Amino acid sequence: MFVRPADKTVSYVIKPALFILCLVPFALLVVGLVNDSLGTNPVERITHETGDWTLRFLLITLTITPFRRLTGSSWLIKLRRMFGLFTFFYACLHFLTYIWFDHYFDWIEIVKDIPKRPFITVGFIAFVLLIPLAATSTNSMMRRLKKNWVKLHKLVYVIAVLGVLHFLWLVKADTLEPLIYASILLVLLGYRAYLQRTG
Ligand code: HEM
Repeated sequence: MFVRPADKTVSYVIKPALFILCLVPFALLVVGLVNDSLGTNPVERITHETGDWTLRFLLITLTITPFRRLTGSSWLIKLRRMFGLFTFFYACLHFLTYIWFDHYFDWIEIVKDIPKRPFITVGFIAFVLLIPLAATSTNSMMRRLKKNWVKLHKLVYVIAVLGVLHFLWLVKADTLEPLIYASILLVLLGYRAYLQRTG
């Protein structure tokens, strides 16, 4: 349905361009920090931006397969790993902000805080579950784990549900943004379920 770009165009043009684009939110935060233009509460701003981008990249990663199937654009699969790894990158920045700027590496405080606040507990579980996915994202791991790789990577749906729950749980008043993410996830999960039923 869509024009299929040549393999070389995907590898040498589209992928590098998207790679740079994915780094823009990070670059803006670094520039903001250096220029001291992140507002009155830079830590809060960084926590929110990195949290938002973690969830956005997670949903973008999950959108690749349905979009590829619906449009017949098989080349999109080449971008999925990159988006998945950017999810992990922003999740690491998000977690680092929490342990560094929120708790100054006070591990005792951190260990106490994680089970105390349910939204933190849920976010932390999602983050821990992302680690094996990132660690097994290489071609050699894919080959080594074979069918177990597919099973393991289904965890991404659990992570997305936890990520949305984490967001819904932490907002006090305006639930519009987390509800938009929740609706997108619901559509993606629905499509997955439909594919499983129809084979
Ligand atoms: C896959 C994992 C995670 C995702 C997708 C995620 C996503 C988010 C999102 C979307 C926000 C709200 C941003 C906004 O208000 O615009 C947020 C806020 C936050 N997250 Fe996470 N997060 C994750 C993991 C974690 C972890 C591991 C921690 C700490 C242990 C954490 C701590 C926080 C905190 C402290 C806030 C700010 C809460 C507030 O405003 O009071 N998150 N996260």
